[in-house]
Amino acid sequence: MCGIVGILGKKPVAPLIVDALKRLEYRGYDSAGVATVEGGKLDRLRAKGKLVNLEQRLDENPLSGTIGIGHTRWATHGAPTEENAHPHFSSNVAVVHNGIIENFKPLREELTEAGFSFASQTDTEVIAHMVCHGINQGLSPEKAVHECVKKLEGAFALAILFREHDDLMFGARNGPPLAIGHGEGELFLGSDAIALSPFTNKITYLDDGDWCKLERDGYTVYDIDGNEVSRETQTSVGASLMVDKGNYRHFMQKEIFEQPEVISHALVHYLDFAEGKVRDIEGQPFDFSDFERLSITACGTASYAGQVAKYWFERYARLPVDIDVASEFRYREIPLSPNGLALVISQSGETADTLASLRYCKQEGQKIGAIVNAKDSTIARESDAIFPILAGPEIGVASTKAFTCQLSVLAALAIQAGRKRGKLSQEQEEQLVQELSETPRLASEVLKLEEQIDNLARDLSHYKHVLFLGRDTNYPLAMEGALKLKETSYIHAEAYAAGELKHGPIALIDEEMPVVVIAPYDHIFEKTVSNMQEVAARGGKIILITDERGAKEAAMDGAQIIIMPDMPQIITPILYAIPLQLLSYYAALHLGTDVDQPRNLAKSVTVE
Ligand code: AGP
Repeated sequence: MCGIVGILGKKPVAPLIVDALKRLEYRGYDSAGVATVEGGKLDRLRAKGKLVNLEQRLDENPLSGTIGIGHTRWATHGAPTEENAHPHFSSNVAVVHNGIIENFKPLREELTEAGFSFASQTDTEVIAHMVCHGINQGLSPEKAVHECVKKLEGAFALAILFREHDDLMFGARNGPPLAIGHGEGELFLGSDAIALSPFTNKITYLDDGDWCKLERDGYTVYDIDGNEVSRETQTSVGASLMVDKGNYRHFMQKEIFEQPEVISHALVHYLDFAEGKVRDIEGQPFDFSDFERLSITACGTASYAGQVAKYWFERYARLPVDIDVASEFRYREIPLSPNGLALVISQSGETADTLASLRYCKQEGQKIGAIVNAKDSTIARESDAIFPILAGPEIGVASTKAFTCQLSVLAALAIQAGRKRGKLSQEQEEQLVQELSETPRLASEVLKLEEQIDNLARDLSHYKHVLFLGRDTNYPLAMEGALKLKETSYIHAEAYAAGELKHGPIALIDEEMPVVVIAPYDHIFEKTVSNMQEVAARGGKIILITDERGAKEAAMDGAQIIIMPDMPQIITPILYAIPLQLLSYYAALHLGTDVDQPRNLAKSVTVE
């Protein structure tokens, strides 16, 4: 994910900005840049690669000015080049941006018609020109920023400067975090407390939809309608630590709430939103068109990501998939297709059973692709190709952000396989890539259901047994939801394909057996409705996770319903995982279990 720093200070800011950007290096990046304003002059330096390259540029050509913005970039739209590095300029505006602007194409066309020319392939540049366009039409900087932010769709954190104003800086947030830092007569903007820790630990996080104006004598925060709002100023604890809970009670909660940003990071690594296609992964030593079958193996949550991927590879690439949990896979002596492909999925990259299965596949002549979070792990080292999920450190034993990042990467790979095997047209690929680009913003929307889910979890925490049901890609999600509840709150939970209910499990249904049903409105929704009616007829308590249409069509009066935002089908498995994570997190909280370190569990099972 990208990193943002802004300083409205009292001394030359360029070197200070670079120091702050260094604290964001843990996020990963491929280019960086700084812009400052002084005496009516807007100046910038940018460099591809590591911050040391930017520092070298600054040594050769120091930037003066006591106000500036800086950025570390993960290439989203356009290659990691100096031209695409931030800050992006329009004639009298400079912008740095973290996130994805989903409507950048129509905005770019509109601005081109208005006479603006583009120097980069990025979505960010449209923001600079939009604000400049507002200024050119006579708007104040404040109005120009507000009008721009109202027109943006997607996930964004911004910092904005104006050539004529060395005493004015703006920020805006919708999705990726942005915080105001409070110094002695100085004000700062940063992606998180870590970025601001060299200057202050007094932090004001903006809420989604907020934008802010920083001036020499103070700051103002506005909501999307332009009303002044006040946001709490906190003292961030442990901001200097590279990994801390920040303002969350547990790592699990923090990692659930990091998902909009880290999913964005995972998606932009594999998808070129400007071209509307899945990138050919650098160093990928195989082509999906070389294989007739695909094996997938993993453990626990990672195995459920693999189960979802089975539906995607078979649906979008018509590639048959054999999948099994690694502890079974490694001993089954499966007769694998010669020159086949095996994908192993592992957050830690050290899980013993998964590693053993990888080695079995290798001895059977398979090409190995590893979908991992730890890029220097044993599994990564022993694979032919590494597909990093870029979720950042996952400390909570219950895997959350790693799961949704695994799914994001697997969705991209399934689409790439579909194109390579001639099963997806260019238009179909563009459509699926556009749909995936909505995931980070919609993830932020889903997280707003936190309070409702907390209340549901309080009820659920009184039961001893829970059933999870789902069909199609919602069936592996049901398995993941059951696992999350078991491992964090110690409540017994089982998952079934909803269609299996009549083949035995319905004998379990009574008032003491709540049933969590995962069912976005889709082509088989009606089938799941009849399963729910069977449950309701026997006094079963239903928690239905669906969307507006599903809630209406189900008309399950007695059910407790979590209404999710409407979304394209391909991203439902990614985002319907979030309410399941929150349900288990809050059930555990109400039961007082050790959320981050549940009993008997280890973060990585490196032994059989
Ligand atoms: C997930 O919440 C569990 N902690 C566990 O099932 C985990 O997913 C499994 O042990 C696999 O770990 P890995 O992804 O590091 O291989």
